[in-house]
Amino acid sequence: MIYLDQAATSFPKPTEVVEAVASSLRNIPGSPGRSAHKGAIEASRLLFEAREKIAAFIGAPDSSRIIFTSGATESLNLVLQGLLKKGDRVFATGMEHNAVARVLEQLKKERGLEVIYLPCDQEGFLILEEYEKALRQKPPKIFCLNLVSNVTGTVQPFHEIITLKEETLLLVDAAQAIGHLPLDVGALPIDFLAFSGHKGLFGPPGTGVLYLREGLETDLRPLKFGGTGSRSESLKQPNFLPDRFECGTPNLPGIVGLAAGVDFIEKIGLMRIHRHETALADIFLEKIRQHPKIKIYGPRDRVKATAIVSVNIEGLSPSEVARRLNEEFKIAVRPGLHCAPLAHQTIGTFPQGTVRFSFGYFNRLTEAERAAEALLSIAEKK
Ligand SMILES: Cc1ncc(COP(=O)(O)O)c(C=O)c1O
Repeated sequence: MIYLDQAATSFPKPTEVVEAVASSLRNIPGSPGRSAHKGAIEASRLLFEAREKIAAFIGAPDSSRIIFTSGATESLNLVLQGLLKKGDRVFATGMEHNAVARVLEQLKKERGLEVIYLPCDQEGFLILEEYEKALRQKPPKIFCLNLVSNVTGTVQPFHEIITLKEETLLLVDAAQAIGHLPLDVGALPIDFLAFSGHKGLFGPPGTGVLYLREGLETDLRPLKFGGTGSRSESLKQPNFLPDRFECGTPNLPGIVGLAAGVDFIEKIGLMRIHRHETALADIFLEKIRQHPKIKIYGPRDRVKATAIVSVNIEGLSPSEVARRLNEEFKIAVRPGLHCAPLAHQTIGTFPQGTVRFSFGYFNRLTEAERAAEALLSIAEKK
């Protein structure tokens, strides 16, 4: 099978990741922070090391600000549910994933938020004049920014966006950015960074992270309450980090796998990974670009995109194209709305969606070529 659904979850995972998960399951008897025996101490050490590694990877000055979650969805929920109060004004983009949009819509019903989806153009870029206009009317409490679209790979003009930010808190959904583009929260005015561990970081499914800037924890209500292994005499949730936001037995095998994924990226080099992935997308696009029946979405200037490509074949539904790619060519892609109906409304593909090809580090050049040939053949036979 040619796996081109890397934006859903990366596959295969590096051997180092598989081995780290297996080794944790095989060799670590105990739960981090829960006991004083050798196994539990080793578990705590591994958890601490993973936190430090991820903090260093994103430039966070203090590893206690790295909160482990089950994925970007939980990280985003933690911030939005924990911070927003009755009547708060919120900005989000017209490219948001449902991991943001559904939370905002739910909170709008429950807490009467004012939610403004800032318009993006057909390539998925935020229209900066519209953003400035909305800011001038009234700045929001929080701006949810989908940094890289999971539908088109569009990378938002981040530096232009942040120069306008002022007092607004910035929540960056980096689910499709992390591991593909460099991110440095120490150098950028990012207040919250939410990402998955199982996509660009090569970690196991069910892993994710929330980074939060210093000082923001006090006003952020935890999403969960429970045992942390610390201050057990108290019935109150500890207010120090990371325990304030992490409770219950942590997913140690997942977290050590995620740390091994970060090690793998550092061994290969983030920019080398980025260059390889985008070269595959370029080869694929080069081959299909001229076909009159194939429509390509997203940035025309591919320097402003990651290795995610959305297309449609005239007269065929995305699910029919994906079915034929799977059955006739053994190529795995994702059709439909990709949990991002707003993004499809923005690019003009709602409600049918698109066929999404997403390339990763382990894909080969020949796979990108074969995917293009398969798509051309379906377009011809139609
Ligand atoms: C842009 C974006 N945000 C959030 C998510 C949710 O990530 P997870 O499923 O890891 O919670 C995804 C997953 O596809 C995504 O692409």
